[in-house]
Amino acid sequence: MYDILKNTHSGWRYVVFILLIIAVVKALIGWMGNKTYTEGDKKLNLLTFVSAHIQLLMGLALYFLGNWYKVDSSNAIGRYWKMEHISMMIIAIILITVGNAKSKKAVDGVAKHRTIALFFGIALIIIIVAILLMTKSIPGTTFFGMS
Ligand code: HEM
Repeated sequence: MYDILKNTHSGWRYVVFILLIIAVVKALIGWMGNKTYTEGDKKLNLLTFVSAHIQLLMGLALYFLGNWYKVDSSNAIGRYWKMEHISMMIIAIILITVGNAKSKKAVDGVAKHRTIALFFGIALIIIIVAILLMTKSIPGTTFFGMS
């Protein structure tokens, strides 16, 4: 059960990644090029938000099923899963949530694109750093691989 969830969570990272990258690139193009904010942009950003929240739910289930909150954090592996992964990923997901909400309130298209580019862009960087940290702290893990 735990392993199925872990593999799904591991694979789902690509869904989050791909959607985030497309959303950030489109938002940057929209922001820099003074483009209108279309219904398609809104749907893409909502889908990105939903994919991140699905990842959050799977992550929370793994965290508590795997008793990661109880592990000894004096070594790199324990520290990474108990504190670093969860905190960095939750910050990234909060940024996606706030960015999506703020983009709805922004008055013009360029402001909406700018909000998405900044909030989703920083979230993407945090997620990449968290996965890079995983490859450093957890032996046998690679950026694109599953353990
Ligand atoms: C966008 C957000 C996230 C991404 C991209 C992500 C990515 C990953 C990756 C790549 C793994 C490694 C799986 C493997 O070893 O094959 C993993 C494992 C894990 N993640 Fe996340 N994660 C995210 C959010 C979260 C959150 C928010 C939590 C906790 C609330 C969490 C908890 C865990 C746990 C407990 C494991 C399993 C550790 C193990 O059994 O080895 N993740 N995650």
